[in-house]
Amino acid sequence: MEKTMNFKQEILTILLVRICFVSSQDITQLREYGCQWHGGSSATLACYCQNGAEMIVRSQSIPAFDTTTIEINGCKLVKFEDNSISDMRNLRSITLNNIESLIFDSRSMNWYGYKENHGHIEERFDMSVPSLKISITQSNVSLISSHTFTGRINEITFDTTTIDKISPLAFANLLQSETIAIRNSVIKDIEVQSFKKFSTEYLELNGVSANFIPSRTFSNITVYQNFTIDNCNFNTVRSSGFTIYNPQVFQVTNTNISHLNGEAFSIVSRGIVIFRNNVFGEVNDGAFQGITLQRDTQVNDISFIFESNSLSKLTRYSLGTTDFKVQYRNIYIGEQCDCTDIDHKIIETSYYSEIMCLHDEEYMTVRDFKSNMCSIVTNYYITLIIVCVVIILVIVVVSILVMYYKFVYRKNKYGGPKQGKNGQLSLIVPDGRTYRETELHVIVEKTDLLTTDL
Ligand SMILES: *[C@@H]1O[C@H](CO)[C@@H](O)[C@H](O)[C@H]1NC(C)=O
Ligand SMILES: *[C@@H]1O[C@H](CO)[C@@H](O)[C@H](O)[C@H]1NC(C)=O
Ligand SMILES: *[C@@H]1O[C@H](CO)[C@@H](O)[C@H](O)[C@H]1NC(C)=O
Ligand SMILES: *[C@@H]1O[C@H](CO)[C@@H](O)[C@H](O)[C@H]1NC(C)=O
Repeated sequence: MEKTMNFKQEILTILLVRICFVSSQDITQLREYGCQWHGGSSATLACYCQNGAEMIVRSQSIPAFDTTTIEINGCKLVKFEDNSISDMRNLRSITLNNIESLIFDSRSMNWYGYKENHGHIEERFDMSVPSLKISITQSNVSLISSHTFTGRINEITFDTTTIDKISPLAFANLLQSETIAIRNSVIKDIEVQSFKKFSTEYLELNGVSANFIPSRTFSNITVYQNFTIDNCNFNTVRSSGFTIYNPQVFQVTNTNISHLNGEAFSIVSRGIVIFRNNVFGEVNDGAFQGITLQRDTQVNDISFIFESNSLSKLTRYSLGTTDFKVQYRNIYIGEQCDCTDIDHKIIETSYYSEIMCLHDEEYMTVRDFKSNMCSIVTNYYITLIIVCVVIILVIVVVSILVMYYKFVYRKNKYGGPKQGKNGQLSLIVPDGRTYRETELHVIVEKTDLLTTDL
């Protein structure tokens, strides 16, 4: 009896072990993933999922040995669980392409190579230190969990992706980072502090659409070279949405932002700031006030260019900056030109001559409009109106005088109905002693009006 029990237990144990083993087995052997090894000095693993296969990548799902490159294509779902690649010390690149739903669990892209560093010492990009490149293209990213990308990852790019959710601290404690780029992508939900406290050489958002950029989405990020926002579309950027230190170049170009809150960009620049060809909707007071110059920076030249941007409305505090000598050019205001409606505080600013308003569906500078269209002498329409008014007034006054003369003055002088009975005229005649030769002829006419002078 005991022996059979033992035997049964043994079988159960073996089964359990097998189940565990299967669950973290070498997925590259499974047919549905269509994986192939390409040899040479660097081992590349390329997988092409068949028939809507779903792939779960755990620690040791992919043999570590000397794998340097992993490419995964065309799966219905790919999910990376925690520490799924951290043991693969020879890994240098991961490419994920055409995946219908991509899920990154917490710490899934945690990779340090051989040397540990738990994020306390900053490591700036250095070619001689092994690091990882991760590229995600043409895919739907369902979730990037907190602490997904940590460690020595020198490049992270998203291109042509739809990202449903980026959790807080999704990008944090990165070392050796050279480029972080999101291109041609839609971000549906990005949370506070999604990008937190690391340094990189380049940070690029190009062709990114996002409805809402909350406060401190990019929180305490150091960018040593270029921080670029190009061709993007944001509905609302909250105060300190981008908190970035140190960029040599900070540029926002060809970008639409419907609501830009005060100090939306909280940038400490070490070089040049460029805003060009952007369309801003509502720009709150002090929207650009958060952009400052690093203290010890030597800047002789113009370090802030604000060129060919549209604002739907301009208030006196919309465009102020603190540390900079700004070069303003072509500030388009989405309002009709108006002779009265310009704030006097704006007239005193250095950029007044660059403000353009709409006149007959074309832009002209507010200054030209005011000097050409708003003075009485030169304004054709106003002159015309004044001339018309004067003519009408003259006509009215003249007719009133004529009427008065006709109906009041003359009736009073030559007799109204009160001064005689019907048809009778009274005549006062001097007596014969004054004028001896006085002759009197009275001719009474039966006409209506008396028109002859007597
Ligand atoms: C991403 O999702 C959309 C619909 O939500 C789908 O049309 C598209 O094919 C998906 N992309 C990929 C690469 O599967
Ligand atoms: C940003 O991080 C640096 C170190 O990377 C730290 O010295 C600084 O105090 C931080 N600033 C804020 C506002 O958290
Ligand atoms: C950095 O910005 C400067 C100035 O716009 C530009 O000339 C340069 O090509 C940029 N570098 C990169 C790598 O984008
Ligand atoms: C910005 O808006 C304009 C129209 O106002 C549009 O033509 C342009 O394509 C938009 N740009 C982006 C990047 O969405």
